[in-house]
Amino acid sequence: MSRLVVISNRVAVPKARGAAGAQGGLAGALHAALRKYSGIWFGWSGAECTEFTGDISIRRADGVTTATVDLPSQDIEEYYNGYANSTLWPLFHYRIDLTEFEREFGKGYERVNERFAASIAPLIEEDDLVWVHDYHLIPMAGDLRRRGIRNRIGFFLHIPWPPTRLFVSLPFHERLVRTMLDYDLIGFQTDEWLESFLHYCRKELGAEVDDDTGRIVIDGRTVTARAYPIGIDYDHFMAQGETEDARQAQERLTSSTRHRTAMIGVDRLDYSKGLPERMDSIGRFFDTHPDLVKRLVYIQIAPPSREDIENYQKIRTLLEQKTGQINGARSEVDLVPIRYVNKGYSAAELFGFYRASKIGLVTPLRDGMNLVAKEYVAAQDPDDPGVLVLSRFAGAAQQLTEALLVNPFSPDDVAHAIRVAMEMPLDERKRRWQALNHTVREENVIVWTEQFTHDLADFQPV
Ligand code: UDP
Ligand code: G6P
Repeated sequence: MSRLVVISNRVAVPKARGAAGAQGGLAGALHAALRKYSGIWFGWSGAECTEFTGDISIRRADGVTTATVDLPSQDIEEYYNGYANSTLWPLFHYRIDLTEFEREFGKGYERVNERFAASIAPLIEEDDLVWVHDYHLIPMAGDLRRRGIRNRIGFFLHIPWPPTRLFVSLPFHERLVRTMLDYDLIGFQTDEWLESFLHYCRKELGAEVDDDTGRIVIDGRTVTARAYPIGIDYDHFMAQGETEDARQAQERLTSSTRHRTAMIGVDRLDYSKGLPERMDSIGRFFDTHPDLVKRLVYIQIAPPSREDIENYQKIRTLLEQKTGQINGARSEVDLVPIRYVNKGYSAAELFGFYRASKIGLVTPLRDGMNLVAKEYVAAQDPDDPGVLVLSRFAGAAQQLTEALLVNPFSPDDVAHAIRVAMEMPLDERKRRWQALNHTVREENVIVWTEQFTHDLADFQPV
């Protein structure tokens, strides 16, 4: 099999895996893909330098070779904090109210993509499959092609693709999508995002689109777009569950929540995760069921993310206010309804926490997939599984249909689901969990990697 060259902004430098805890789903998934295939993983080191040199730092650990470059502060500001996370991220999560359109951001974005292409191009060998990831690097294929790279190049978008009516509010939207059509294969998390993309190509670019095969013909080129829902590294995660760290974490939560139902949420502190809205829903639950305040404890693990961006600072302040208000109104000297934690935990510790929690509350307002939902399912005790309450607006809801699906914008709906979850009989919990676990186990990240790379290797231009 060919070597795999993976390119993404965020690279999980092995020693940081789990320890930092806020690297998100992409890093864990790509780590799994690269443990299986030989190759290299290129991206930003996360470090700042005074001037861009393109010097690559190569490391090998845990079966994975990483190649990273540092970026100067202007690049970090305009490309990472700017275009990627203040323009594309909010817009693609349907938050046009938070989207910033700054000319300098766009320039910085294109500059960093070119810089990455210039750094990685000399490392690409003739038979390599090149796989680029996420919204930071949409123009990468064009930049590599201009440098003479003729290899198969695939792209996977880990976040939603917005409806055409929203997407066209992006200045130069056509320029961005045209650069995307330099890839051979483009993957989306769900059919919904795929349909939005195909709709845009047909309506705005006048491309010839075959909805059944995902083939797009434009300017004499053929590109294929398909849905490949990402999964978790199931076997690796289950092995984490066997560790002493997992056992201790489970014991820690179980012993500190005795006689109460533990309900857990684990999210990067991001406005797409619907955290203040979730607190409103929990507040509504306590308001409508004051008798149950003593029976439920909610644990919110929320490692900070993208802290230099003002909208992330604001969401943190809002979340802290709401949590403080609910706890202030409902706590007793020996009882606090919400435990709010700002630090990240390792996969093993999360396994233990998930297992000790009888409800997993996953209510993003919009999410490409959401791997926490899948991890919660995998970690449950088959003889006494907990209940997953899941936003219908997470990509995972397309697959995890046996969860209690909720509208995260409706406090009444979420509060009702919490009540149903608390009272669900064992046989129904088991029935739902068995179906969910089957999906999570079978549609795992290894299958995802195999399907994408197989289709990329097979790609036949017409
Ligand atoms: N995560 C972690 N430690 C934490 C919080 C989260 O390792 O303290 C991991 C979590 O286990 C999951 C990933 O970060 O694998 C989050 O992925 P998800 O798809 O749910 O959301 P994202 O952060 O990518 O938007
Ligand atoms: C999401 C994105 C990833 C990103 C992750 C963490 O999962 O799709 O591309 O790596 O969030 O965000 P960060 O900005 O810390 O890389």
